[in-house]
Amino acid sequence: MSRQNIFDNELFFNGYKALRDSDCNANDLIEQPAMRKLMPDLNGKSVLDLGCGYGHNCIDFISRGAARVVGIDISEKMLAVAKEESAHSKIEYRNMSMTDIQNLDEKFDFIYSSLAFHYVKDFDAFAKDMYSVLNIGGQLLFSQEHPIITSTVDGAGHFNKNENGEKVSYTFSNYNQPGERKIHWYVDGVIKYHRTFSNIINALAKAGFVIEEVCEPVPEEWVIEKVPAWIKEYIKPNFLIVKAKKSNG
Ligand SMILES: C[S@@+](CC[C@H](N)C(=O)[O-])C[C@H]1O[C@@H](n2cnc3c(N)ncnc32)[C@H](O)[C@@H]1O
Repeated sequence: MSRQNIFDNELFFNGYKALRDSDCNANDLIEQPAMRKLMPDLNGKSVLDLGCGYGHNCIDFISRGAARVVGIDISEKMLAVAKEESAHSKIEYRNMSMTDIQNLDEKFDFIYSSLAFHYVKDFDAFAKDMYSVLNIGGQLLFSQEHPIITSTVDGAGHFNKNENGEKVSYTFSNYNQPGERKIHWYVDGVIKYHRTFSNIINALAKAGFVIEEVCEPVPEEWVIEKVPAWIKEYIKPNFLIVKAKKSNG
């Protein structure tokens, strides 16, 4: 299984860090507020965070009462930041690919993942693996880049402007051609995987998950006030968020 570790590339890591350190990034202003609204009660729960990055969410789970958190990431550089900024006695960080979770020798009450699943090649197999490491009644909450964003070959999706220079529409293509996409994001050759909306939902359903909620978040009013340019999110979504449950064994 292809497992690119682009976050350990120095140039990419620095570019991504600068983006996340800025106070107007879409993660903090659009994706995270929507994810927080869908967060289940974590009191006393065990949590698995897939592609945990800097571990900020792992710390948040602890503040919500989680009993144990395992944060997994393929990037040593991201985990080095996590261990520095987000250490806690109830959090264990593991340097491994999320596509290897079937090798974990424990089960969890909650699987969380923020903006990492578009790096997974075989989502059908991965959905089954996630189902198998969840306890019965356990929940999955994840966000990923929206299929409208992942679809266009070479990452060439783009906004179109009117005569006043205002963004009015968005062009994307190759939607019904799932598979690998190689794009330029800080560096050439960043690999992501495009799946259609139905590919994603069907993979989860076939694995046994019951879909509880799907969300394509838009910026709240306070976000538009802070960064007016995010109004463009009303033209097309950036993120897809899914909450699902394991009801049976
Ligand atoms: C966009 S970052 C998001 C980090 C964190 N979830 C957050 O929202 O702040 C994606 C993360 O997924 C990790 N990642 C990518 N492919 C992975 C894989 N196969 N297994 C584990 N982690 C992976 C990257 O190293 C990176 O830390």
